[in-house]
This record gives sequence, C-alpha cells and structure tokens, in this order.
Amino acid sequence: MTAYLNGQFMPLDEARISPLDRGFLFGDGAYEVIPVYARRAFRLEQHLARLQRTLDGIALANPHTLAEWCERLQRVISESEFADQSLYLQVTRGADSKRDQSFPRALPPTVFIFATALPSLAAQRENGVAVLSAVDNRWLRCNLKTVSLLPNVLLRQQAIDAGCAETILLRDGILSEGATSNILMVKDGALLAPLRDHRMLSGVTCDLVLELAAAHGMPCQLRDIADAELRVADELWLTSSTREVLPITRLDGQPVGSGKPGPAVRQMQAWYTAFRQ
Ligand code: PDD
Repeated sequence: MTAYLNGQFMPLDEARISPLDRGFLFGDGAYEVIPVYARRAFRLEQHLARLQRTLDGIALANPHTLAEWCERLQRVISESEFADQSLYLQVTRGADSKRDQSFPRALPPTVFIFATALPSLAAQRENGVAVLSAVDNRWLRCNLKTVSLLPNVLLRQQAIDAGCAETILLRDGILSEGATSNILMVKDGALLAPLRDHRMLSGVTCDLVLELAAAHGMPCQLRDIADAELRVADELWLTSSTREVLPITRLDGQPVGSGKPGPAVRQMQAWYTAFRQ
C-alpha cells in the first residue's frame, strides 16, 4: 500500500514521522477523508475546499496547489490494491524541537496521504442503525476538520460500548451532529438539518444530500433542531463520506418513526447511488 509523506511516495509501513511532530504533540493539524469509487475520488473539489477553510481557520498555509494535491492523491489512489477506498490526508504544523505551543517560524508542514479499503456497509444501509445521544462537550470551532479529535474519540466510544453505531450530540438541547457524522431529520415530508455554523462540521455528504433533495423538489430547511423534535421525528439519517446515508432506526433505545428505515431514506439512497455512478 502506497503512502505519501513530505514529498515522497513509499510503502505505508515505511512511512516515519518525528515524535516532535505538532500533530502528535498538540493535535495541531487539519485532515480530510475522501471516498473513492472505482479509483475516482468523489466530491474531491468540495473536500479540498473544506481543507482550505480548515487551514485558514488554524492559520496554517496550504502547502500545495489544487493541481499538486490532485496529482499526489491520484498516485496514492492508483497504487492502492482496492478500487473503492477511504482516502485520508493530513497536514500538520510540522516537527519542532522546542515543544512550544506557539507557532514555530518557517517550519515545513508534515503532509501525509494514505488510503484504506472503503468498508462495505450494505447491512447498515439496508437495516438501519441504533444511536445514542450525549451532551456535545467539544470546543466551539467544530466547523474545522482538525486532528484534535479526543472529544470525538470519547463520544464515539460511548456508542460502541452501548452496542450502537454512533453518538449524536446535543448542545444546550439542540442537535449539532454525530461524533463522526452529520444527522438529518425528516418530519411531515420535509428534510431538516442543523444550521451550518461553529457547532458542527459542514459535511460534504450532508451538503450533497441537501442538494439532491432540493433538485428533486423535496422541501429542505436548515434550522436549530431541538432534542424533543428528534424524539418524534418520522426519520433520522446519518451521513458521512465513508457511510453515505444510513437510516437511524433507534435513538436511546426507542424506535425512530416506525422503527424501520422509512420511505424518504430509501428515496435518498437511490438518488445518492444514481448520482455517484
Ligand atoms: N468524519 N461531522 C464530523 C464530526 C465528522 O467527523 C464527519 C466525517 C462528518 C461528515 O462529513 P463528510 O460528509 O464530509 O464526511 C461530520 C470522517 C469520515 C472521519 O473523521 O473519519
């Protein structure tokens, strides 16, 4: 499996970074996860645009032009043994011997790319998943896709420990997102999603789902969604690059809607699959 690290391509198990890397010491960096179907990166432009927004948000210069990113990503994609991939890229503020939190001067960033097989989630897509809810105790810059992920790690583990697929997060009683995904709600034929602000990551998959809904004339609205509304939703959906659109059939042990994947998610899954082909 080929990885890219700081200008060089190499087998993944030969890639080495310094323990002084600020990504390792401080979680000081940005990342993206891009789905690849039949060796074609999906919504690449949108992912690289979000990477730029994250880098701007943490005052880290983008080390590559769009063309340079595409060239590097494409080589990792084509040298992977898998046709469908989860492509990962990360940029950190580099390795610095001082271990000082403040920004070092003129330090080359660390750039890392690798790809794994895209997991097949056919059963989850078909049958739906159970989720639990928790208080969103993350920072107030959740719109940035940074590698400082300890809160997400702890929140997601709560779901796994409870035999659930995801933890959905509520800040002051308002839905923000999943620990590693976005959450949408269907009520009375309309698709509702949280407002795009500092409380959540603007998901590339969620954006596409909203685009597809609008294109097919399904009413959509971005607004605050209260905890109480989630409990009486007709449908809840989970979206992410590696999971596409999953029906949520149980929330905190209670059925969502009928307790089975609803008609709207089936429709959206069909639109989504048709779009990515
Ligand atoms: N996670 N919100 C959070 C906190 C996420 O970590 C993710 C994705 C999303 C969905 O964004 P997108 O549709 O662009 O993948 C929302 C990725 C897959 C991860 O960290 O592995």
